[in-house]
Amino acid sequence: METKIYRTDQINQAAALLRQGELVAFPTETVYGLGANALLPESVKRVFTVKGRPSDNPLIVHVSDFSMTKEFVESYHPLTEKIVKNFWPGPLTLIFSIKAGSLSTVVTGGLSTAAFRMPDNKKTLSLIEKTGAPLVGPSANTSGKPSPTTAMHVFHDLKGKIAGILDDGATQIGVESTVLDLSGEVPTILRPGAVTKEKLEEVLGIEVPLDKHLVKESETPKAPGMKYKHYSPDVSVLMIKPGDWGKAIAWADTNGKKVGLLATPKIADSYPSADRFVFEDDSIEAATRGLFSGLRALDEANQADIIFAEVFPEDHLGLAYMNRLKKAAAQKYFGEK
Ligand code: TXA
Ligand code: MG
Repeated sequence: METKIYRTDQINQAAALLRQGELVAFPTETVYGLGANALLPESVKRVFTVKGRPSDNPLIVHVSDFSMTKEFVESYHPLTEKIVKNFWPGPLTLIFSIKAGSLSTVVTGGLSTAAFRMPDNKKTLSLIEKTGAPLVGPSANTSGKPSPTTAMHVFHDLKGKIAGILDDGATQIGVESTVLDLSGEVPTILRPGAVTKEKLEEVLGIEVPLDKHLVKESETPKAPGMKYKHYSPDVSVLMIKPGDWGKAIAWADTNGKKVGLLATPKIADSYPSADRFVFEDDSIEAATRGLFSGLRALDEANQADIIFAEVFPEDHLGLAYMNRLKKAAAQKYFGEK
């Protein structure tokens, strides 16, 4: 199958493909999604095959407005309106309990809840409207690889396997949405993202806990997708704490290891000899935007024996950045066993 790249003035063609049951990747503010019509179970099944994704890992249903969720949702949490008003469209996925049989088990993995998100990308909202149905959309990468932040990343992983990619340039945020479970009494974060714990707490005026496994890595995650090894490039990754850069570089020199740096300009400027992907500036926003792209670029360049990646404090957006980086690094810090 030829995978066509569609420009944003060709949404009608992309929507026609989705209506016919074809798979089309779409841009969002977080990462690119692998789109299929959520109401066509046969198409949704192909999403799992194409990605190599375990079938017990449920998908997010992308909607073009809140009212689109009403057909499926059994009951809303009392804070839903406030949350939606403040954060949709945006990088926040909401889990609700659903009406039995309203969504295929291929979408929900057989759970009595489902995940919904209204992405903050005008072209994709228009794509959903023109398709006339919600779209499932896991990140449009091969399962286990870093999520795609450009149409080229999607093409690299899925060319020949999907009908098209709607290209709207690089995504702004760079990591997947926050997943907030609203199916129980206490809104709980199952996956950290750009709608941070601090922002949610400020708007809601209550404490918003992280799911147990995000605090204690040994606990079983409630979001099924969080248990799989993720975001790994082929080269191994080590996390470097702020005071350890000198030691880490010296260790690599002594052991004849070629290093690929994934770091802010502040750090990278001190080690000009290594192969590198430098974030746009020293902010956590730039680091988050560049994380997956950088892991892919260093992997592709095939120069480095090992990637040294910069760590950030685990609060605000840093919690999301570190959650993804730790997975890519299999939790390994330089200097620890
Ligand atoms: O930013 C994003 O969320 C991107 C873009 C494309 O929208 N999508 C994305 O989808 O990251 P995916 O499938 O890679 O991640 C969905 C996460 C998984 O960890 C999955 O296990 C969890 O949401 N999830 C889905 N339905 C759930 C449910 N009913 N209960 C708990 N977790 C659920
Ligand atoms: Mg994913």
